Amino acid sequence: MAARTLARFVYSKVQSNVAVRPHLANNIKLFSSAANPAAATGNYEYIKVEKAGAQKNVAVITLNRPKALNALCNGLMIEVSEALDNIEKDATIGAIVLTGSEKAFAAGADIKEMQNVDYAQCVRSNFLTQWDRLARTRKPVIAAVNGYALGGGCEIAMMCDIIYAGEKAKFGQPEILIGTIPGAGGTQRLPRFVGKSKAMEIVLTGNQITAAEAEKMGLVSKVFPPEQLVSEAVKLGEKIASNSPIAVALAKESVNTAYETTLAEGLHFEKRTFHGTFATKDRKEGMTAFIEKRPPKFTNE
Ligand code: CAA
Repeated sequence: MAARTLARFVYSKVQSNVAVRPHLANNIKLFSSAANPAAATGNYEYIKVEKAGAQKNVAVITLNRPKALNALCNGLMIEVSEALDNIEKDATIGAIVLTGSEKAFAAGADIKEMQNVDYAQCVRSNFLTQWDRLARTRKPVIAAVNGYALGGGCEIAMMCDIIYAGEKAKFGQPEILIGTIPGAGGTQRLPRFVGKSKAMEIVLTGNQITAAEAEKMGLVSKVFPPEQLVSEAVKLGEKIASNSPIAVALAKESVNTAYETTLAEGLHFEKRTFHGTFATKDRKEGMTAFIEKRPPKFTNE
């Protein structure tokens, strides 16, 4: 049995044992990050990871489970977490693009995997909590959404920093149609991005919205023909990656703070973070380069 297949076999055994041996629930995460050989080789079963852009400074993670429209099974989300761990450690990468196929970005959490799970299993394994890895990524992440971004697919797009969409993309939170509710941020992030009334309509009906509607609502920043989407997202990633990585990380943290705090506290955080940039070489270099009318050479210091 190949090492990766063996790892997945053991993983599925761990999962099934959790039902009868609850203490194993805590081991799932440990096993997934420590023992999956994909982390070392970059050979994944459900995703592809490539370096793109003229300077190969943009990582492109492509969800690649076409038979299930990129449904977000446990194995796929573990691989995404591992890829993000590796990319965060790679100093040559300044931005990340997360994409799927032209038919589906992701059709949601894997319904077949969830069908027979019970409440106790959800609680013991802290089901879906591991998905937050994407939202905790320190490097900027651009979602390039073609096709369906439904349920968990829409939720992981919203965990990214910027969403670009293909003209035929469809967004939605259809969990209500299968007797449940969004469980990876749909009821929390969507109202913050599109407002209460629109979020309620999407969550309570399960209706899908088009890329044009999503752009009008502010969920998506730009819409492109499907075949141009990923290259446009990579171009955006290259532009971001040309800036000081320290300044980019601080700017991302500061914008995200706007969603977590009061205006007064957020403004204070921003001011102190802005002051903090004056301790970096990149801030000095950026301003000096401007005055000397030359491009800056940022060193991430
Ligand atoms: N989970 C598991 N399998 C899925 C899936 C999902 N979320 N979405 C699609 N698939 C599978 C289908 O079962 C089918 O597999 P089989 O050929 O083995 O039957 C294959 O992908 C192709 O799907 P369809 O035949 O349904 O394709 P379609 O073009 O007719 O329809 C679709 C596309 C509208 C996206 C439809 O597949 C669909 O409605 N999918 C489910 C969407 C959904 O409800 N997502 C929410 C999941 S719950 C969730 O995400 C919770 C959370 O908050 C995290």
